Amino acid sequence: MADQQKLSSRHLLGIKDLNRNDIELIFETAANFKAVLNRPIKKVPSLRDVTIANIFFENSTRTRLSFELAQKRLSADTVNFAAASSSVSKGETLIDTVNNILAMKVDMVVMRHPYAGAGIFLSRHIKAQIVNAGDGAHEHPTQALLDAFSIREKYGEVSGKKVVIVGDILHSRVALSNILCLKQLGAEVMVCGPTTLIPKFIGSLGVKVEHNLIKALNWCDVANMLRIQLERQDIKYFPSLREYTMLYGLNKKILDFLDKEITVMHPGPINRGVEITSDVADSKQSIILDQVENGVAVRMAVLYLLAGQM
Ligand code: CP
Repeated sequence: MADQQKLSSRHLLGIKDLNRNDIELIFETAANFKAVLNRPIKKVPSLRDVTIANIFFENSTRTRLSFELAQKRLSADTVNFAAASSSVSKGETLIDTVNNILAMKVDMVVMRHPYAGAGIFLSRHIKAQIVNAGDGAHEHPTQALLDAFSIREKYGEVSGKKVVIVGDILHSRVALSNILCLKQLGAEVMVCGPTTLIPKFIGSLGVKVEHNLIKALNWCDVANMLRIQLERQDIKYFPSLREYTMLYGLNKKILDFLDKEITVMHPGPINRGVEITSDVADSKQSIILDQVENGVAVRMAVLYLLAGQM
């Protein structure tokens, strides 16, 4: 990785910041890092002397661990901040919190925040590079990149593949980032769910809409099953979880009944027995843990390429 190519953006605030060349560069770099991760010595010195702060104002398991591991594999110095155990609870603002962290000579900030646009806001006020690790119901760019990378790994390419995203599209940052990323790469995208959980503007993004799960699954090569984001729902969007599961839950009987063998994805965290049953999540058709594995390599690629623009 001597002759480093550059991304077109200093920050990764959303897939909106990336063009197709950027995404393909991230994938090539991630494939190289994945090979490194499968070696006995998994660490490279690429980000030695780079300090990265992971600041999480919202809970996370996968994204947080994955970023931290990616940073350690790249030999970066890392500091971790969780809002629940910080002075945010004493009334400190986002900018004050981040400026205090930056005063400790931090080069890059990986941030998760419950408000859409928090990363964009911060990028206008601080000099450090920012990676959005999920902002409200807006974007989750590294999730979309690792999802598309996993589809590419499975099928050799993303272009021409049919991907259905099933569930709570309205409250999902994963859905928006996936749609933007998959469309950039030439995939056909469909969303499927109850009318109340599909935003009215979705057609303007060039995606198909289907309310019948069986029809959607028979159309697709890949089904990306989303969790119901109860934490972001202020009103009731469907009568009960039981009814949602009856209409939109994926179980083995449905999977075996389809005309073809499809690939099943899920960004996690999974609610087993709601949007997906255990026998599907743990089946051969599921690439859920491949997604998690690829997340480290993809995040290494993002951090490495952004650091090249310091
Ligand atoms: N997929 C995802 O963002 O999971 P976490 O909330 O655990 O980070």
